[in-house]
Amino acid sequence: MADPWWRDAVVYEIYVRSFQDSNGDGIGDLAGIHARLPYLKRLGVDAIWLTPFYPSPMHDAGYDVADYCDVDPRFGRLEDFDALLADAHALGLRVFVDVVPNHTSIEHPWFRAAVADPSAPERELYLFRPGRADGSPPNDWQSVFGGSAWTRDETSGEFYLHLFDSSQPDLDWRNPVVHERFRDILRFWLDRGVDGFRIDVAHALYKDAAMRDGKENAWDQDEVFGVWEEWRGVLDEYGDRSFVGEVFLYDMDRVARYVGPTRLQQAFNFSIAKMPFDAEAFRAKVTRSLELFERDGTSPTWVLSNHDLIRHATRFGGGEAGRRRALAATAFLIALPGSAYLFQEEELGLEQSDVPPEARQDPIWFRTGEAGRDGCRTPMPWSANGDGHGFTTGKPWLPFDDQAAALAVDKQDGVAGSTLEAYRELLRRRRELVPGLGREVAWLDAPDGCLAFRRTAADGRSLVVATNFTAEPRTLPQPVVTLDPETTVWHLEG
Ligand code: GLC
Ligand code: CA
Repeated sequence: MADPWWRDAVVYEIYVRSFQDSNGDGIGDLAGIHARLPYLKRLGVDAIWLTPFYPSPMHDAGYDVADYCDVDPRFGRLEDFDALLADAHALGLRVFVDVVPNHTSIEHPWFRAAVADPSAPERELYLFRPGRADGSPPNDWQSVFGGSAWTRDETSGEFYLHLFDSSQPDLDWRNPVVHERFRDILRFWLDRGVDGFRIDVAHALYKDAAMRDGKENAWDQDEVFGVWEEWRGVLDEYGDRSFVGEVFLYDMDRVARYVGPTRLQQAFNFSIAKMPFDAEAFRAKVTRSLELFERDGTSPTWVLSNHDLIRHATRFGGGEAGRRRALAATAFLIALPGSAYLFQEEELGLEQSDVPPEARQDPIWFRTGEAGRDGCRTPMPWSANGDGHGFTTGKPWLPFDDQAAALAVDKQDGVAGSTLEAYRELLRRRRELVPGLGREVAWLDAPDGCLAFRRTAADGRSLVVATNFTAEPRTLPQPVVTLDPETTVWHLEG
């Protein structure tokens, strides 16, 4: 039986606000993405994942949802979504949308009703608790964005829980009504034809029932697997669709419990994004990842960048060297069994932007004074020219920096040796070579600071992938392959 499509897909994350503006308001939108589908097709990805485009007051960039079944007017209308989906499908691109089940926005009608009247049934959808006798919050849990995870509701004097910003009240997943509401939300988008969902903070829905102190009690409770089994049942009624969970735990063994034939098909493996550019680190993490995830009903995920992380060209040292290493790392991981999740602009070699304080929008910045995540969310530079760099005719919601002129799409398009052309070539070769290969990864002897593996096809042909993590040239002994510093070579045999 053929492998399901999600098992070895290349999925491109589109940060909707920052991809393409179509109406000059400086904010990316669905019609803009629609117009750029040919670019994505040519790049050679299999699927796109759209970050939340639902009505939202945008305290956390749309991860604070006020209505799960509509489009925020800033991003367009439902008809724009339908048109985008239809054309993506016509081009052979699958579409994942984001679902945010851990919390709603404070502006969601459920939360408004819950606050307006403490005896309203909606109150039970959230986690309101009385404070301690001294007036302090119910327990010591901290928000992921800094400060207490509890905010006092002035009307009732009770506190509500929010593992993220105070504008994102957590839902009570021990209430069956929450389950029912989310089954309806899934069906709403499945009926429209989406191919899958990226599930926001999939590890956090259940908290210790007694709400004991200690951050280990704030999430990753086994009861959450019941939700994924339930959701899987809904999804499977629709055939060939898929889930990828954002399980933000660095312990891969724990992440592995979220996936399988009756749970989620895949989960992001963030310990991959934490690897330094180092042969031993890569070998250890990749080996463990294959052991845990290359099995029935799931497959590994390879994630180096996304809208919450520091761009990997910067993590790997920045500048020319950082870009070279970033490409080498991608070329290595993308040849392995499993799915690669790319983040927009990595195909241009973009680095983390240094967004000036007055332009920052991330709640992390407002809550803690730390720079936050805006630096990986800056708009896509399509053109080297013009203030809006082909992204907008207006003022972009986050500013461009010098990279926009240097690394814009039109600067790299058709230019041999550019990062964009390297990605196109890599993805072309992947489509051509990888589907015929066996899933077994055989490590080869490699010189110090290098890694090499082989995947073999049924007819005996094989692909050897070798990476030189050092700054000096190296030679692979068998097969003999010359490896330039900090590069990955795909070498075909037979
Ligand atoms: C996820 C999202 C992140 C968001 C958080 C709260 O981690 O990727 O951007 O801030 O959830 O919804
Ligand atoms: Ca717009």
